[in-house]
Amino acid sequence: MERIVDVALAPSEPHRGGLLLLGCFEGEAPDTSTLPGWAADLARSLAERPGWKGREAQWAEADTGREDLPHLALRGLGKRQAMHVRKLAKWLGETAAVASLHGVATLVLAMPGHELAGGPSGAAYLARNLALSRYRYDAYQQQPEEADTLVAVHLLLPGAGDAEAAAIAVAMEVARGALLTRDLANAPPNVANPEWMAEQAQRLAERHGLEIEVLATEDLERLGMGGILAVGGGSKNPPRLVKLTWRGADSPRVALVGKGVTFDTGGISIKPAKDMDEMKWDKSGACTVLGLVEAVARLRLPVQLTAYLPLAENMPGGGSYRPGDIVRTHSGKTVEVLNTDAEGRIILADALSWAAEQNPDYIVEYSTLTGACVVALGATGAGLYTPSDELAAGLLGAAEATGERLWRMPLWPEFKEAVKGSHADLRNVAGRWGGANTAAAFLSHFVGDAERWAHLDIAGPAYIGGEDAQRGATGYGVALTIQWLRSLAAS
Ligand code: BES
Ligand code: MN
Ligand code: ZN
Repeated sequence: MERIVDVALAPSEPHRGGLLLLGCFEGEAPDTSTLPGWAADLARSLAERPGWKGREAQWAEADTGREDLPHLALRGLGKRQAMHVRKLAKWLGETAAVASLHGVATLVLAMPGHELAGGPSGAAYLARNLALSRYRYDAYQQQPEEADTLVAVHLLLPGAGDAEAAAIAVAMEVARGALLTRDLANAPPNVANPEWMAEQAQRLAERHGLEIEVLATEDLERLGMGGILAVGGGSKNPPRLVKLTWRGADSPRVALVGKGVTFDTGGISIKPAKDMDEMKWDKSGACTVLGLVEAVARLRLPVQLTAYLPLAENMPGGGSYRPGDIVRTHSGKTVEVLNTDAEGRIILADALSWAAEQNPDYIVEYSTLTGACVVALGATGAGLYTPSDELAAGLLGAAEATGERLWRMPLWPEFKEAVKGSHADLRNVAGRWGGANTAAAFLSHFVGDAERWAHLDIAGPAYIGGEDAQRGATGYGVALTIQWLRSLAAS
């Protein structure tokens, strides 16, 4: 079963499909500019039915009497001024679900003119969201729920042409990358241990002919990766560090780093039981980077990309590191462990300093690093930390263009001071306040003199937890990063 809904601009008339659905803003006549005459007439008559307003999710439907397109429906988008990226994503997901519920295989979707749904970036946004709209993680279900009927969406967008078609084609590859990210991140922690993650990286490397290095315990010892070894020490599943390279060009050289804690119990500073299962998603940063590599390779982007994935399981046990331990990292800097639950920054310290030694043009790192960042920003967006205004502008612009929310946070010197140690060079936690900022400041001690580095704290947007029907990994970060990499390659 194909797990991606195939999205493309509608081929020229006659349009064929199970349903022609028009998105309609509240209080506006349906935008029929992309429709054949008969469909425009029918849509207008539907909108004249008493009670039709175009309110959010409002629905009106008619039979067309045609064989190749038997049904036509209007679905309300709510007020034009109230539309925003998250709302449109939700609308698209529900629209796809409704179509599938009605047994539709090919949906012809006509959207009204709007900046979020038009032009190349709007078309790409629609395609990415629709492509993954029927995603379910059912790898371990004996009887997966009834198969979805929806396999394709044909888009009718006012004024769309070659540029939109090309943007949609790129968006589909981005969706395939995000699909990998979601599948990997959703894998259960009894299966997805560090070795399994390294195997997945290996498979990715074989698929695309990438260079790969997998460091196991002895290699980590030889390279002085005391942070990864300390965090991974409590588990019978030993840690790994994966390095993966795509050479699509000699420059720019970009290092991507992703936190891969395959399960975070907190270690000796153990977490409370409530929602601890969600810490299987503490490997999301690494999964984002693997999905990115997949998309970059599929798109054959002209960049040199090196991925660094520190992988460890944070468990309590006889081999665990302890509060009070002093760990020597790859950089030579020592860290006093005050809380074993602040483990992400410790494995990232080794990976970041290893990446920085290669002097890449950019370092971008992704991690579900702190609950504090979720407290600050909520679950829909990530925190961006970087000393570089140029890199900030690039990443924030890409976030804006793709609808993945990102917000710049401070790297003030106070925070950098706060993580200095008393018995070691650094300590892994500072005081109570600004926990996301002190975590980011800790990382800044490990990038050497690199200026163009960024840390994205994705603890909020990487997955949807709790009882939510959409519970699962989101693939956050793949779209915005591909957008940024393409802008780098173009400049
Ligand atoms: N993986 C967690 C951060 C996290 C928390 C991600 C909630 C997603 C949802 C991280 O390793 C952690 O435990 N951070 C601690 C840091 C504290 C001990 C300074 C936190 O956020 O509480
Ligand atoms: Mn932790
Ligand atoms: Zn963690």
